[in-house]
Amino acid sequence: MNTNDYLRLLPKTELHCHFASTMSAAQLIAFADREGVVLPTTDPALLFNFTDLADFLEAFRAAHQVLTTADDFAQVAYDGVRAAVAAGSVRYREYAINPQYFAPRGIGYREILDPIIDGLRAAQTDLGVGFRIVVAINRHDSPADAVQLVETMVANPLPEVVALGQDDLTPELTEDPARFADAYALARRHGLRTTAHAGERHLDSAENVRVALDVLKVDRVDHGYMIVEDPELTERARESQIPFAATPLSTTICSGWTLDHNHRIAQMVRAGLNVSFSTDDALFFRTDMAREFQEAIPAFGLDLDDAKNIALAGIDGAFCDDDEKRSMRAQFTAQIAALDAALADTPTSR
Ligand code: ADE
Ligand code: ZN
Repeated sequence: MNTNDYLRLLPKTELHCHFASTMSAAQLIAFADREGVVLPTTDPALLFNFTDLADFLEAFRAAHQVLTTADDFAQVAYDGVRAAVAAGSVRYREYAINPQYFAPRGIGYREILDPIIDGLRAAQTDLGVGFRIVVAINRHDSPADAVQLVETMVANPLPEVVALGQDDLTPELTEDPARFADAYALARRHGLRTTAHAGERHLDSAENVRVALDVLKVDRVDHGYMIVEDPELTERARESQIPFAATPLSTTICSGWTLDHNHRIAQMVRAGLNVSFSTDDALFFRTDMAREFQEAIPAFGLDLDDAKNIALAGIDGAFCDDDEKRSMRAQFTAQIAALDAALADTPTSR
């Protein structure tokens, strides 16, 4: 076994994963063809070249136009889990699902969530991968729409839907997390957990992370990289151990950052923040959980102990029950011990 095998086989959670991006390229192209959605090209090598986050989001929005039937949702859900297990030893996943993308085509909340949950439950039975769902506010839409979305969540309680998030960008191409403060307050009043994409790009700010923490009172931060520009806020995050769901490969595309020792995620890990890794949008960024660890860990100047801590941080940051976390921790610890023994037994690794 070499370190690449080790990082691929390391048991992982994935807390920051957009459902539409768990589609395969073949599914995207086939569904687009069926729905008459015109993609810029059908060559997968060319389909996923983006200049920045806003450019990627156009393709991401188009991907929501190709999913229509209950079978589409259930099939993508099931197949996506199988692919994630095979590629990167994913044992638990949280999906961001943005129902507002589907609303203009008249596809309702339960029409999306029920078949996705069916597919994910079937995958859990067959493959043992637990899951929860984060319903994401579409920042392209209004604060009133966001409140209405939370009202829909509250009126349709589903055991797997445990949290509110926010993604996309505002029409001004900003994050502006405070815009959705009312929706977050309502979600918290109803016992939902919360997260938010904040401080993702150099165009964003540590202030957005502060707003997510202090105004939205999130339980977790998606991205959050710009926090390192504010040493005081970074120290607060270290003390509180608020979880950050970081997505290394996506930063190379959405922000044009290089994976190196000075990368903001590397700085967050070195500062002692609670950082886990995810893919964000595996299809579009041509990544998977193995690649995130295999590329980012050495490029950030981190070692296998850091990789294990990052894998275990995904359990701390998860929105599942404490019993499920305890059982995952025991499983991960045993599997990591077996991997450590296999690595130590490999003559070339010495
Ligand atoms: N939707 C999917 N991926 C996203 C990202 N990285 N930032 C904002 N919105 C997104
Ligand atoms: Zn994201």
